[in-house]
Amino acid sequence: MSDMVDLVIFGGTGDLSTRKLLPALFQLHRHGLAERLHRIIATGRAETDTDSFREEARGNLQRFLPEGRWDDGIWDAFRERLYYVRVEADHPQHYSDLAGLLDTGEAPGRLYYLATLPALYGEICRQLQGAGVVDEYSRVVLEKPLGHDLASCHAINAQVAQVFDEEATFRIDHYLGKETVQNLLALRFGNQLFHPMWNNTYIESVQITVAEEIGVAGRGSYYADTGALRDMVQNHLLQVLSIVAMEPPATLQPGDIRDEKMKVLRCLEPISADNVAECTVRGRYAAGAVAGEAVRGFLEEDAFHDADTTETFVALKVNINNWRWAGVPFYLRTGKRLTRRYSEIVIEYRRQPFSLFANDPQELTNKLVIHLQPEESITLHTLNKKPGLRSKLKLKPVELHLTDDDERDEDSYDAYERLLLDALHGDQTLFMRRDEVETAWRWIDTIIAAWEEAGTPVKNYNAGTMGPNAATALVAVDGRQWHE
Ligand SMILES: NC(=O)c1ccc[n+]([C@@H]2O[C@H](COP(=O)([O-])OP(=O)(O)OC[C@H]3O[C@@H](n4cnc5c(N)ncnc54)[C@H](OP(=O)(O)O)[C@@H]3O)[C@@H](O)[C@H]2O)c1
Repeated sequence: MSDMVDLVIFGGTGDLSTRKLLPALFQLHRHGLAERLHRIIATGRAETDTDSFREEARGNLQRFLPEGRWDDGIWDAFRERLYYVRVEADHPQHYSDLAGLLDTGEAPGRLYYLATLPALYGEICRQLQGAGVVDEYSRVVLEKPLGHDLASCHAINAQVAQVFDEEATFRIDHYLGKETVQNLLALRFGNQLFHPMWNNTYIESVQITVAEEIGVAGRGSYYADTGALRDMVQNHLLQVLSIVAMEPPATLQPGDIRDEKMKVLRCLEPISADNVAECTVRGRYAAGAVAGEAVRGFLEEDAFHDADTTETFVALKVNINNWRWAGVPFYLRTGKRLTRRYSEIVIEYRRQPFSLFANDPQELTNKLVIHLQPEESITLHTLNKKPGLRSKLKLKPVELHLTDDDERDEDSYDAYERLLLDALHGDQTLFMRRDEVETAWRWIDTIIAAWEEAGTPVKNYNAGTMGPNAATALVAVDGRQWHE
């Protein structure tokens, strides 16, 4: 792709664009990192114009930018980059209008960001090609969810592939844009301290939790047909898992990193009707209280009365069948209306074979906890001598914080800033390759089929808790507990 790029956002008036993409672009502009970006052309179905769109964007940015980041001077320059074109996805004339606007610019590169219904992705690509605005300098970014199962994902990918090569296709999972997820690569492959112990000889188990406080109100019938497994595990949790579990890549080039992630996905042990009861838990929130506020249950929300087979919580025990991870369970869980909003990875090391100390052996474990949200940080749980004359050689847990707080505050950014910057520069490292997404769907489909075959129930949990009791039992039968 040539240096200068026009960014066209399909769904430019939608929630994602308003809350995430435009604030991220403003921040890149503010940091002087948007030098490749020429214009930002938002599209939607409304018959509005560029001036009105700019006015609306101004209010939205003031609302959604992180505190203290609004700046009138920066806005004056940024607003000049913003344009609006009305585009109905299946309306050729609207693409001609878009092509007319693109032709007036100086940027030969085009980045089409599809932040709209995935069912429209194929049509939008086809229409863009028909309007003559796709060439070797064009790329496309695809928002999740890419389909509902392997077949629908494959269909979307195939339609997009008729217009854009794989090298020009950027599939987003915003978890990959998080600093701490990238830091996992640095931690694992940059430190002799961790790398030699990153295997089943030293690691007992791995937990990945993505907990949300929010419910599903506002997500209409989409969530009723989706559920937590498809909505969160297929993408965010499996992407994080594959980075935790991957082998060292040959280089840091996108192809090498994605090859290694892909190998992990291929080694996931299938979950079938035979082991689905011991490896999965499905839950659905009932009424309860979150952050001190009473909330309704999932089936009491208007759009979800009939969605009694939809899970809002899922916990899985996952085995990775390869030399590094055989015998190390990866416990995954995610859900809505849980105790609090947080995401973390917990690496639990094996206990020493013999203890010299007067502690309960249960206490003698090291853990590495990688916090992904709300704050991004890494904590190593170690054991020190309990100080003082009274306790001779007793141990107490001590937390070592491995994050450079000063640098973090200075350089903190949203995942979408990282990903937009990389897409503008054509770097695919933090984007998902087609085979990764499809392999993940293939594995998820086996679980859904197993649930159907085994009639796996969706168990209630009270909003404001960490899921159904069965999730506690899932790890307890292995003698473990969730890290809280
Ligand atoms: N919101 C998030 O936080 C989030 C997070 C991750 C992924 N995503 C994904 O991002 C995509 C957009 O989500 P969203 O929450 O922003 O949705 P949204 O608020 O419903 O916005 C949808 C956008 O698509 C446009 N649109 C709808 N139908 C269209 C059509 N037939 N032709 C042309 N444009 C059309 C809408 O334009 P109008 O102005 O005409 O309505 C609007 O700009 C979805 O794939 C979603 O799953 C969203």
